[in-house]
Amino acid sequence: MSDITLDKDENVIWHQHYVTKLQRSELKQQKPVVLWFTGLSGAGKSTVAGALETELLRLGHHTYLLDGDNVRHGLCRDLGFSQQDRRENIRRVGELAKLMADAGLIVLSAFISPHREERALVKSLLPEGEFLEVFVDASLEVCESRDPKGLYKKARAGEIANFTGIDSEYEQPIDPDIHLQASEKSVATLVEDCLAVLKEKGIIG
Ligand code: ADX
Repeated sequence: MSDITLDKDENVIWHQHYVTKLQRSELKQQKPVVLWFTGLSGAGKSTVAGALETELLRLGHHTYLLDGDNVRHGLCRDLGFSQQDRRENIRRVGELAKLMADAGLIVLSAFISPHREERALVKSLLPEGEFLEVFVDASLEVCESRDPKGLYKKARAGEIANFTGIDSEYEQPIDPDIHLQASEKSVATLVEDCLAVLKEKGIIG
C-alpha cells in the first residue's frame, strides 16, 4: 500500500449529508435500480436499453442511460480494451451507476462487461435487489453478421486487437435477472420482456 493510499484511508472521512436517497427517490415516485445490460458488441444492448428508457420516460420515470461507447469518449477516454482497462472501465461505471441510483434514478447501463468478476463487483456496490443483470443474448454469428460498426470485419482482418468474441473472451451470465433472446425477438418485444420483470419486482407500477 502506498503512502498516498494510507493518507487517504486515514484522513478522508465520509460526510453524511442531510438529504437521503429515500427522499430523492420518493420525490420521483420510484424505486432506484441499476439495469446492467451485458452482451457481445452488436447484440443490441444500447438499442434495447434506449428503447426501454424511452418507454420508462413515457411512463413518467426518471432515468439515465450509460452507454459504453459514449462513456469511452469522456470519463473513460484514457482506457483501452486490455483486461486491466476493461476492469477499470467497469469499476468506474459501477461507481457512477451507484451514485446515480443514490440520486433516485433508474439507471440503464450498456457495456459489454465481458467478465463475471467485474459484473459481480458492480452488484456488490449496490444494496440487495438494486442491481439487475440483463443478458442481451445474441450469438457471435448473429452479431458478426449484423456488424453495425464494421468492427468484426476489422477484428477478423487483425486491425483491432482484443476484440470480444474474436480474440478476447466473453463470459456469459450464469443466472441473469433478465435473459433477452436478442437473436430472435424484436426490440419492442424485448422491451416488453424487461417491463414485465420490472413490474413483477415492483420497481415500476
Ligand atoms: S467493455 O468490455 O469495457 O465493457 P465497452 O462496452 O465499454 O466494453 O465498449 C465496447 C464498445 O467499444 C463496442 O461496442 C465497440 O463499439 C467498441 N470497441 C472498440 N474496440 C473494441 C474491442 N477490442 N473489443 C470490444 N469492443 C470494442
